[in-house]
Amino acid sequence: MKAKQRSKSMKIILYMNLILLLLIIIHVARKSENNFSPPSTITLPTLHLIDVAFRNQLITERLASYSQSYNNSLGVCNIKNSLNAEQEKIFPRISELLITLRQQIVTYPNQYFNGRGIILTVGSSQLELARVNLKMIELTRTRLPVQLWYSSSQVSQKFMLTLLDRVPKLNASICCFDTAQCKTRNQIWQLNSTNVYKPITGTLWKHFPYKPAAIISSTFEEVLFLDSDAYVTRDPEDLFLSDPMYLKFGALFFPDSYLSRQHPVVWNLFNTTCGDHEYELDSATILVHKKIVWNGLYMAKLMNDNHELFYQHVTDGDKDTFRLGFRYMNVKYYLVMTPCATGSFDGTRFCGWTLCKTDSLAQHIYINHVHIFKYENIKYTSANLGYTRIGLGDPNNNSFFFTHCRLPGASTSCFHIIKQPNPHITNSNCYTGGVPLEDIENHQYTLNESLLFDNSRKNRVLFSKTNHLIPNFVDNLLKYIE
Ligand SMILES: *[C@@H]1O[C@H](CO)[C@@H](O)[C@H](O)[C@H]1NC(C)=O
Ligand SMILES: *[C@@H]1O[C@H](CO)[C@@H](O)[C@H](O)[C@H]1NC(C)=O
Ligand SMILES: *[C@@H]1O[C@H](CO)[C@@H](O)[C@H](O)[C@H]1NC(C)=O
Ligand SMILES: *[C@@H]1O[C@H](CO)[C@@H](O)[C@H](O)[C@H]1NC(C)=O
Ligand SMILES: *[C@@H]1O[C@H](CO)[C@@H](O)[C@H](O)[C@H]1NC(C)=O
Ligand SMILES: *[C@@H]1O[C@H](CO)[C@@H](O)[C@H](O)[C@H]1NC(C)=O
Repeated sequence: MKAKQRSKSMKIILYMNLILLLLIIIHVARKSENNFSPPSTITLPTLHLIDVAFRNQLITERLASYSQSYNNSLGVCNIKNSLNAEQEKIFPRISELLITLRQQIVTYPNQYFNGRGIILTVGSSQLELARVNLKMIELTRTRLPVQLWYSSSQVSQKFMLTLLDRVPKLNASICCFDTAQCKTRNQIWQLNSTNVYKPITGTLWKHFPYKPAAIISSTFEEVLFLDSDAYVTRDPEDLFLSDPMYLKFGALFFPDSYLSRQHPVVWNLFNTTCGDHEYELDSATILVHKKIVWNGLYMAKLMNDNHELFYQHVTDGDKDTFRLGFRYMNVKYYLVMTPCATGSFDGTRFCGWTLCKTDSLAQHIYINHVHIFKYENIKYTSANLGYTRIGLGDPNNNSFFFTHCRLPGASTSCFHIIKQPNPHITNSNCYTGGVPLEDIENHQYTLNESLLFDNSRKNRVLFSKTNHLIPNFVDNLLKYIE
């Protein structure tokens, strides 16, 4: 009798456990549909939240160091070699051309642009990644509309429209430079072709010259431009609404891992002070308020139209046409110098293969530019995207060694981010050491937590699992890529 009762109550317990398990499974399944909601943990760790006073302190500090750095307090250019014969010949021509281009800048068309939005440019080789990119945007549940700019000489309208098929929740349209038409699946509208600033591409096979043309042609007044492989990791609308340096300057740029390589004479051509202490741009992400920085943007567009001259002698592709075009037109920009990279970790060494981007106060990572993977044929796996390093310094203080290099015998190059000076930084300008223990942080960030939230975090390098620093990024990307 007793044994029977016990087995009955055991059964009840078993059933209850099964029901509980089922509930957990349903709950987890629900959660994984909604990947951008923060995980609900039972024991809440201390939340890393930023308060108003610290935020204001950061803003004040950053503005002060920006002023110094933009004007280059040292006033010295490190590159001292003399010009070669070709440069001697070309540079005066560039100077003349700049004066001509300056006169071609059209005035800002008041009342034409409106709203905020994300734009991408798509050529035939970007179609697949653009598909992934749109999916990543959709996952953030952003309200921002998206425009995909293309040239019908490269991709057909039919193909472009297929990009919209898998993102029903996104307010996305395709816009053609050649016809000045935008289109969604069920709507088509004509733009005033006066306000579509077609790129001049010539015979160039690369699609770089499309970028500034698309930014100024899009109907948005405020634009977040993304390369097809620059993926948003959270809703970027906050950048437009509350990023203090964006609100002040109207332009946020992000660094590549190279200090400026332009010759001092180049800076002088553009009638600006030598900026070789400043990093070159990773122009995969550009945030601009067109009304505020129009002349700079338009100059960048004209320089890209003349890419034969500028790409070869002044900039490496389109990237520095923005910095130099802005400087030439005396339009200020803010470079968010927070080094950040995602990559692999073998237990000792970290090898970064992406460039991630934060807001100007380094509160959150918003975008991850996953480009080296395709250049170096690296597989998109959770191990290869597993870890992320980020240096939380003052952007203008160059507190960190931040470079892209290949160690002898290594199969790929890596981005390195390390506090400097460091004995393991070699003469060949590579970092040979491992990840310092003090950098490792296991805190799992929720979407509302800040990376830089307190004075003690300044000049600190964080090293953690990518999904800890950028909630769900790896899982989301791997779902859609390849
Ligand atoms: C650079 O210096 C000039 C003259 O000293 C000053 O007017 C300007 O505001 C400075 N630039 C920045 C970005 O602070
Ligand atoms: C640079 O400034 C000087 C002096 O204002 C001017 O004469 C020259 O034309 C400018 N150069 C360019 C390329 O605009
Ligand atoms: C979609 O975006 C366009 C701007 O590109 C805007 O005019 C329109 O109102 C948006 N539609 C919806 C449903 O939000
Ligand atoms: C197109 O824009 C130009 C310049 O702003 C303006 O003069 C013209 O009237 C516009 N055309 C149409 C059809 O709205
Ligand atoms: C600037 O960097 C140095 C180390 O390179 C550091 O000691 C200093 O605290 C930094 N200043 C700020 C304002 O972060
Ligand atoms: C931040 O997110 C956590 C986890 O979702 C939540 O418990 C907490 O209330 C949030 N805090 C604030 C200040 O929004």
